[in-house]
Amino acid sequence: MVKACVCGAAGGIGQPLSLLLKLNPLVTELALYDVVNALGVAADLSHIASPAQVTGYLPPDNGAERALEGSDIVIIPAGVPRKPGMTRDDLFVCINAGICATLAQAIATACPKAFILVISNPVNSTVPVFAEVLKKAGVFDPKKLFGVTHLDIVRASTFVSAVVGKPAEASGYTVPVIGGHAGVTILPLLSQSKPAIPSDILADKEKRDALVYRIQFGGDEVVKAKDGAGSATLSMAQAGAEFAKFVLEAAFGGKSKVVQAYVYLGADSGGAAVQKEIGTELEYFSVPIELGSSGIEKILSLGKLDEYEQGLLGAAVKELGPSIEKGATFQPSPP
Ligand code: NAD
Ligand code: LMR
Repeated sequence: MVKACVCGAAGGIGQPLSLLLKLNPLVTELALYDVVNALGVAADLSHIASPAQVTGYLPPDNGAERALEGSDIVIIPAGVPRKPGMTRDDLFVCINAGICATLAQAIATACPKAFILVISNPVNSTVPVFAEVLKKAGVFDPKKLFGVTHLDIVRASTFVSAVVGKPAEASGYTVPVIGGHAGVTILPLLSQSKPAIPSDILADKEKRDALVYRIQFGGDEVVKAKDGAGSATLSMAQAGAEFAKFVLEAAFGGKSKVVQAYVYLGADSGGAAVQKEIGTELEYFSVPIELGSSGIEKILSLGKLDEYEQGLLGAAVKELGPSIEKGATFQPSPP
């Protein structure tokens, strides 16, 4: 019996993500929370013949807490998306930090042991907001909090195929992406691609720059194409549902998995060795992790970065520090 809860379930990401979770055979209960239209989305999805029982919740009468009560996994695409000309950082102060702090408080009350998957931007700062609220409530478990950067990995695989051509392996390219989830903080490790990217492409600076830029700024491509109607929703729903599936299969299906996600590396997290590799004591970074029954079983080594990637690492670290600080010091207004 697995209960999943989506916060922001009526939104551009929330609706297709909820659909994909409804189709996940491991999910037996699906609670949908939003400040609008959650009941409509729940009624609609409830007609699909799959195991998950779907219920919708709106804010009155502690709707968030009722939706979250007893959840095993909470996935959060609540908040405002970018419009052309905005950075992800612009979303933080305007509204998303406050939304994340409120939802974190509700999770601390209703389902403190749940896996928490944060999609709301800017991920580099909203994950520290979650951690701080959970710490204050005395329920922070670094093994269970994930900033979802999986869309960067999906994009890397797709864009590498576009440049190199389809690999023989049916699974396509697997390209680790580390760092954060905004512009130059997104650090694709093309040198570690499986199968390997031909060395002539990696050695061609112009080609490599273009590929790395496309992965780092893939979000802008969608924001520009949607022209004011929001940012990536469908690809994010797919990436979010896939990441949730990995977490659930590791926790409840006995299948461990190595993925990358933006996680806490501070005290008692097991992240000290990888902090050494990064070269600073940043408290959050997207790193390879091994998922298991209790969430993050192990924080793994970054592996060998080539010279090009060492250069990208410096730029990522420089931008991540202040973004983390901003999230960690955010003061939610009193309720
Ligand atoms: P959207 O506006 O379509 O949907 C957001 C939903 O959140 C809306 O239905 C809204 O009613 C709801 N909401 C607002 N305040 C809420 C609250 N307090 N509690 C619960 N729900 C609330 O936006 P979207 O396109 O779905 O994007 C959502 C967020 O995801 C944005 O911040 C966006 O930048 C981010 N995003 C992240 C990634 C990633 O890779 N991590 C990818 C794409 C988008
Ligand atoms: C993305 O990478 O598509 C998301 O973070 C949304 C955005 O604002 O670009």
